[in-house]
Amino acid sequence: MTDRTQPPGGSSNTRRLRALDAIRKKSLLGGGPERIEKQHQAGKLTARERLHLLLDEGSFDEVDLFVQHDCTHFGVGKKKFKGDGVVTGYGRIDGRPVAVFSQDFTVFGGSLGKMHAAKICKIMDGAMKLGIPVVGLNDSGGARIQEGVESLGGYADIFLRNTLASGVVPQISCILGPCAGGAVYSPAITDFIFMVERTSYMFVTGPNVIKAVTHEEVTSEKLGGALVHNETSGVAHFRSRNEAECLQHVRRLIGFLPQNNAEEAPCVPTADDPARRDVRLNTHIPDNPQKPYDMKEVLHTVVDDRQFLEVHADFAKNIIVGFARLNGRPIGIVAQQPAVLAGCLDIHSSIKGARFVRFCDAFNIPLVVFEDVPGFLPGVAQEHGGIIVSGAKLLYAFAEATVPKVTVITRKAYGGAYDVMNSKHIRADVNFAWPTAEIAVMGPEGAVNIIFKKEIEQAKDPVATRARLIEEYRRKFANPYIAAEKGFIDAVIEPAETRLRLIRALDLLRTKRDKNPPKKHGNIPL
Ligand code: HXC
Repeated sequence: MTDRTQPPGGSSNTRRLRALDAIRKKSLLGGGPERIEKQHQAGKLTARERLHLLLDEGSFDEVDLFVQHDCTHFGVGKKKFKGDGVVTGYGRIDGRPVAVFSQDFTVFGGSLGKMHAAKICKIMDGAMKLGIPVVGLNDSGGARIQEGVESLGGYADIFLRNTLASGVVPQISCILGPCAGGAVYSPAITDFIFMVERTSYMFVTGPNVIKAVTHEEVTSEKLGGALVHNETSGVAHFRSRNEAECLQHVRRLIGFLPQNNAEEAPCVPTADDPARRDVRLNTHIPDNPQKPYDMKEVLHTVVDDRQFLEVHADFAKNIIVGFARLNGRPIGIVAQQPAVLAGCLDIHSSIKGARFVRFCDAFNIPLVVFEDVPGFLPGVAQEHGGIIVSGAKLLYAFAEATVPKVTVITRKAYGGAYDVMNSKHIRADVNFAWPTAEIAVMGPEGAVNIIFKKEIEQAKDPVATRARLIEEYRRKFANPYIAAEKGFIDAVIEPAETRLRLIRALDLLRTKRDKNPPKKHGNIPL
């Protein structure tokens, strides 16, 4: 019998194979067992352990394992590691190919030099050619100091590719250690940033520089940890308790996305009946229009299997954005949350919504809007902070989007916010309203104070007169029927049938074709 484990040929071949095996084995240890131990002590996984968790079992094909730096400054020429501090290649997530890079903190602190950058650029170029997502696992001390300006050039090479790939293939960044200085700008250009509590941080200038310049004292965690960037700055979109959870979240997100901008997002068959009614929705809106309710309950009730992947869950909670499926097909949901700030649009929620809408539009993911918006948040801070420009971003994003666009008005749709939130007038395809919808220029109290100012002032009983006028206004305007009479609403529907109506609308819209006028690019109000 032939021994298939032994290669044919003489002993020289065997020697060469053993040598290859030895190099591979050594390179798998990165910067060596001690540094790996230090990495584990810090609560972090190694670059390869992370890829193991991210990718389907046995699917990883590494490239450029043999790449090394050619720098000779500061004695670094004697220190060489195969792979130069970043593991790159191709693997699969649920059977679908992705390009990956994973920085190895055990080699020069994962710092980025010329060859390290060239490896990342190579797989990004590959991802563009193949039309597949790029997932970057970042854990790096930044520009490799010994390589000087070549490191800066390497970063710029990556930034350019991030920009050119934007809107062509999905780009996902996991921050799994330090990410400081200009290095933050690669993740910032990508579509989604994941961070892990306590072990990851991002900042342009660190605590020491800040102390020297502004005399503020702050820790890395408080300055740029996962909580801060998810809750306060909105730089990050997902927060995980540990790396394993983070990498599972990445896999789940990828499941909702197409491989590139020329494909549709993948359909996942479901046992959830498309015609499923839920009568609880018929009484979900409180009788008192000032009372909040949880919009997430509405979303969970309507979508397949109650599965909703919320994006930016910790930031600007007055708007909800995320992915779900209807009859197996992925959708992007944008919804007001009346339980936070009454669902008002403000600076942060407008920016959060706009970025999400643009992602969905770039990647052919239909948009479904659940609207309950009393208007834009009033206040000096909002005006001085530029709510005009921020609100315009959301308006622009909805108006330019050509994917199928459906709106359900559950309760309030007042003022400019009515126009902004995927109204018929800015090319929404199907607009539904629940019988509880109130569609008008403003709410009854505010409207009566303006248009009946004199009557109220001159009335014998101003309080009773005002109450009567408010009730009259409410009866006349705080409903969906005037908008429906004008064709601004296509149908007033029973809340219980929302799932079925949305599924039928999206089925109809599968053949939708719409284009924007030819241009180099628009000038979204940034
Ligand atoms: C070269 C680096 C490095 C770097 C870390 N190392 N950062 N080598 N260039 N930027 C090396 C260390 O020498 C050490 O090598 C190993 O990585 C681990 O580093 P430690 O300091 O021992 O680890 P730790 O205590 O965990 O601290 C991690 C750290 C710290 C906070 C990241 O290393 C650090 O502050 N590094 C410098 C960060 C920095 O200023 N980078 C430049 C930012 S400017 P040995 O051999 O001892 O294991 C920038 C500009 C980008 O990035 C611009 C793009 C446009």
